[in-house]
Amino acid sequence: MRWPDQVEVREVGPRDGLQNEEPVPVAARVRLIDALSATGLRRIEAASFVRPDAIPAMAGAEEVMARIARRPGVAYRALVPNARGAERALAARADELELVVSASETHNRANVRRGVADSVIAARDVVTLAHGEGVPVEAIVSTAFGCPYEGDVAPERVAQLAGLLLDAGADALSFGDTTGMATPRRVHDLLDALERAGIAPGRVALHFHDTRGTALANVVAALERGVTRFDASVGGLGGCPYAPGASGNAVTEDLVHMLHDMGVGTGIDLEALIGCARLAGEIVGRDLPSAMLHAGPRTRRHEAGA
Ligand code: COA
Ligand code: ZN
Repeated sequence: MRWPDQVEVREVGPRDGLQNEEPVPVAARVRLIDALSATGLRRIEAASFVRPDAIPAMAGAEEVMARIARRPGVAYRALVPNARGAERALAARADELELVVSASETHNRANVRRGVADSVIAARDVVTLAHGEGVPVEAIVSTAFGCPYEGDVAPERVAQLAGLLLDAGADALSFGDTTGMATPRRVHDLLDALERAGIAPGRVALHFHDTRGTALANVVAALERGVTRFDASVGGLGGCPYAPGASGNAVTEDLVHMLHDMGVGTGIDLEALIGCARLAGEIVGRDLPSAMLHAGPRTRRHEAGA
């Protein structure tokens, strides 16, 4: 089996992770982002510009963006749900915008309070605003592997929405497994449907949650198809505080460890990343699901004679 020599791991812990934890102060969010920016990560999802009353853990997005120590070569990204969010994110000097639209109607209405068709229309405004400032837009198709309300989401529907978002001017595409329903079989099914729609795996980023323990298996399935961009959350931040034991995104350091051992480069310093995972655990005050935090990387165990 031939895997890519190099992939990009993109950190989403400061947004997707922390949004699903008890709110932590802006200063702690800034500390985590600054620590992550020193690990070799090139893209960090730093904030979301949504209604603070909808997502209290993401309140203070402007302050976070103003206080981080921007490192050259690192893109600080912001999730936006609409044009108002794009205006705020651009004013806060986000390097890239991520526009979220769900593939399932019910989830889109629950998440951003409008239908999918209206989100697609609004995507043009977001793109116009961003491109006016020279900022690229990645469209995130969420519930791409299943919807918590509607169940299965047909891969053709996901591919069709992706095409509409490209038509609206999106520069890149990402597919989110919002509630951890993907399996390798569903990864292949979606990549097949995308290919039929003219969207090659090399243009796709994937965003897995480990809710059902399949995140790394899904990554391997996608690697075998030539996908080279993956999102992950340091420490595995993102377990819902009201559901003990629930796990969040794919764990960044577990993913990086696996990739390096497979001979797939990431440019990320694993030890520095594990340091960030420790910091993430201190910030949220709970034991995080990270295997690297519990078991350590294999080299360290071997050195210890374990
Ligand atoms: N940021 C801050 N305020 C916003 C906003 C944004 N991105 N978008 C709209 N608003 C404000 C409007 O200015 C308006 O304020 P006003 O009453 O003072 O004039 C008010 O919200 C209502 O505007 P409306 O366009 O009707 O938005 P809404 O109330 O339907 O909310 C969202 C839409 C998308 C902003 C809201 O549902 C939201 O923030 N959802 C969170 C989505 C999310 O983060 N999900 C998790 C990540 S995928
Ligand atoms: Zn997510």
